[in-house]
Amino acid sequence: MKLGVNIDHIAVLREARQINDPNIIDSLYFCKMGGADQITIHLREDRRHIKDKDVLHILSHTNLPINLECSLDKNILNFVATHKPHIATLVPENRQEVTTEGGLDITKFEDDITKAKKLFDKNAIDTSVFIDPNIDTIDMVYKLGITNIELHTGHYANIYAMLYGGLRHSSHNIKELDISNEKLKILLDKELKKIKACVNLAKFYGMHIAVGHGLNYQNISNILEIKDIDELNIGQSIIARSVFVGIEQAIKDMKDLVSKR
Ligand code: PXP
Repeated sequence: MKLGVNIDHIAVLREARQINDPNIIDSLYFCKMGGADQITIHLREDRRHIKDKDVLHILSHTNLPINLECSLDKNILNFVATHKPHIATLVPENRQEVTTEGGLDITKFEDDITKAKKLFDKNAIDTSVFIDPNIDTIDMVYKLGITNIELHTGHYANIYAMLYGGLRHSSHNIKELDISNEKLKILLDKELKKIKACVNLAKFYGMHIAVGHGLNYQNISNILEIKDIDELNIGQSIIARSVFVGIEQAIKDMKDLVSKR
């Protein structure tokens, strides 16, 4: 199973001071030494962390494959097509959100997704879509001829944090939820079953299957039990651990968990 390390969070720290420290390019060496199989970045429309020049520098300073997450905005798509990452993952974007909150609405944006895929095909860039774990969505993605998916594990991670991490609100809406542990266990089980069903169907369709969002050193265990996942994309928890042990070690720790599955 491949590990994509999302390094947006390094740029978040840099932007807190708006100086070039930590230097995102320096992190590439340590990501490689830690065993990252891929670098994942998100060029957001508001450029709140990763900037255009970061994309160019990252592409030219590492031989690791680059997974560039992007919205369906025309300027962003043209930028991606010009600079040719290995794979582009289409994600929904909302300026108000702290982080990507849900999967891409394939039905609503079918035309735009089809156009983006055509543009990426022309430029030899693989297309992936970040989607909520829903089997009807997998069918729609298949019909569009897209063979790479990333399943959104954020909802699973939120329920896990509420059950085992003492989080008593959904992290996105900050709504206090009066919900028992029994109910949370049922919800967690339901979410895992949804992810598993999607993985099974996507595998049947021969897709490359990535998962990501909110995954950490604890909640990853249930995900690793699901067979046929090809790739994980993890950012926040790895960069958070790096503060204490360094990014190389933090990646090695995650790789160790993955290799034990
Ligand atoms: N995958 C996608 C599509 C994302 O948008 C993100 C967050 O930028 C991640 C994976 C990584 O999520 P996290 O930082 O919560 O590990």
